[in-house]
Amino acid sequence: MKIFIDTANLDEIKKYAEYGIVDGVTTNPSLVAKEGDISHEQRIKEICEIIDGPVSAEVLATEYEEMLKEGRMLAGWHENVVVKLPTIRDGLRACKTLSDEGIKVNMTLVFSPSQALFCAKAGATFISPFIGRLDDISEPGMELIEEIVDILSNYDYKAEVLTASVRHPRHVVEAAKIGSDIATIPFDVLDKMFNHPLTDRGLEKFLKDAKKNK
Ligand code: G3P
Repeated sequence: MKIFIDTANLDEIKKYAEYGIVDGVTTNPSLVAKEGDISHEQRIKEICEIIDGPVSAEVLATEYEEMLKEGRMLAGWHENVVVKLPTIRDGLRACKTLSDEGIKVNMTLVFSPSQALFCAKAGATFISPFIGRLDDISEPGMELIEEIVDILSNYDYKAEVLTASVRHPRHVVEAAKIGSDIATIPFDVLDKMFNHPLTDRGLEKFLKDAKKNK
């Protein structure tokens, strides 16, 4: 499974980049806004210097022609930029056009398997179902991943399933069991995935016992 980090914070990206386990980065307008008064372009370029993999940058336009203009501009910032488009009708149209031009597209805000099928047909490189936000409204987010992975496995679409809106380690484990190609994971969830008190306690005891041999 590929691991993307879901943040626009450079320190967070650098920390996990050091371990060599980050394959890409996803950002969205809310994550960029959290970083304060920074230029979108500068931040995406900074991220591309740290991670040699797909870096999703989201368009703000919601109308087809504007989406194309903005998408082409974002793609021009760096060869690893993936244009993130909302799964609305104009977004779907723009996905097809940009994908045909060779620009990689990540379709975001996917909440149903039928939306995912349309995105795959429109040539999306990544499809991002938001599981945490479905869980928030008492809909089983993980079932959406199951359905999309199942549907795409029947055909030859190039689209990869990018599990998004991940809220806890179990989301990632379940998505991996289902065969989601990628999970994009917030920094705090990455920490929770790795930390284990028994590992820390076990090491503490080993080191303490080793001193007895000196
Ligand atoms: O990349 C966007 C997505 O992961 C958002 O997550 O927690 O705001 O639903 P969340």
